Amino acid sequence: MSREVRTGSVVVDRIGELVTNDPTLGDGPLGIVRDAALVVADGVVVYAGPRTGAPAAEHAGRIDAQGAAVIPGFVDSHGHYVFAGDRAEEFAARMAGQPYTAGGIASTVRATRAASDEELAGGVGRLVREAALAGTTTAECKSGYGLSVDHERRSLEVAGRHADEVTFLGAHVVPEEYADRRDDYVALVAGEMLDACAPHATWIDVFCDRGAFDGDEAREILRAGVGRGLMPRVHANQLQQGPGVQVAVEVGAASADHCTHLSDDDVEALAASDVVATLLPGAEFSTRAQYPDARRLLDRGATVALAADCNPGSSYTTNMPFCIAVAVRDMRMTPSEAVWSSTAGGAKALRRSDVGHLGIGARGDLVLLDAPSHLHLAYRPGVPLVRSVFRAGARVR
Ligand code: NIG
Ligand code: FE
Repeated sequence: MSREVRTGSVVVDRIGELVTNDPTLGDGPLGIVRDAALVVADGVVVYAGPRTGAPAAEHAGRIDAQGAAVIPGFVDSHGHYVFAGDRAEEFAARMAGQPYTAGGIASTVRATRAASDEELAGGVGRLVREAALAGTTTAECKSGYGLSVDHERRSLEVAGRHADEVTFLGAHVVPEEYADRRDDYVALVAGEMLDACAPHATWIDVFCDRGAFDGDEAREILRAGVGRGLMPRVHANQLQQGPGVQVAVEVGAASADHCTHLSDDDVEALAASDVVATLLPGAEFSTRAQYPDARRLLDRGATVALAADCNPGSSYTTNMPFCIAVAVRDMRMTPSEAVWSSTAGGAKALRRSDVGHLGIGARGDLVLLDAPSHLHLAYRPGVPLVRSVFRAGARVR
């Protein structure tokens, strides 16, 4: 179900600032070690600490960081990579004043259904590669532009060839051919479509919002998915306040994604639960909408993740450094919080303990920056600061 992991071994020496996200290894929540070395053997971190204590590693390539910073690879916990075509014209119309609605999804559904398997797979591979070059070493990928039994199953099969985590999103919107019989579509998603798709996914997601699915429909579909062994996550409260967050908490979702329009009760519910609030700055950027308030969530103690939400309609970017910069500038996050949320936070949203940090035993996923500190990711927006990327110790870039 997930892309194959090629492993390698590498020593990164003379690291000016190593962000481990392991507070037992270094300072603060980011577990920062200065003048550090990192050793990855056969895909796994075996040393992360002061360079003076680093073991001599044999058979491993040695990289001289020359005082630059190293951070964990980004964990992008929310992406819609399986689609054909684009919606550049719709974007341009929005920038000229048109509002964003969930209705644009239908045009991508038409293009996706018409595409060959090879075209779809090529698109997913290109986006996963694009993300990896910008430092993303774990990517989640949803279906949701097929919206029939065969097209959703095909989307998941294609996603599984390239993405690490695969999510069934048959409940993205009600497709045009079911416009007058939405109950039948909900029954299809929770029944025959789920039967066909469950073997090809780990997660089930529902877009619970205006123009998509209401709270009762979302509950029914998510519970059916849980009954088939899938773990739930929810698109919640993107376009307006509504039941999405409360549904996510009720069904024990790993994450509630978007969280742009939250009531005080929603914030309290997230803070009191294990549901990660995943914020997607690219969506508000590209729909010229109000950004979510990360500070409000963080100050109440909620766990916040950042993700790119790559899709052709509302956020056609795979770039996590861009998301960090926007989150710091416009969502009241500190640069350190934003780096944590795009690495460790994403891992929590995917319930993964092997990625999102560089503690001993973690997968050797790391980004060597062209900068002396992780702060530069927000401080130097738009500048390509990702110098090298390793995934399980194997060089990606
Ligand atoms: O996450 N919100 C729902 N789904 C996507 C948008 C999909 C589209 O417009 O094509 C999102 O923003
Ligand atoms: Fe999304």
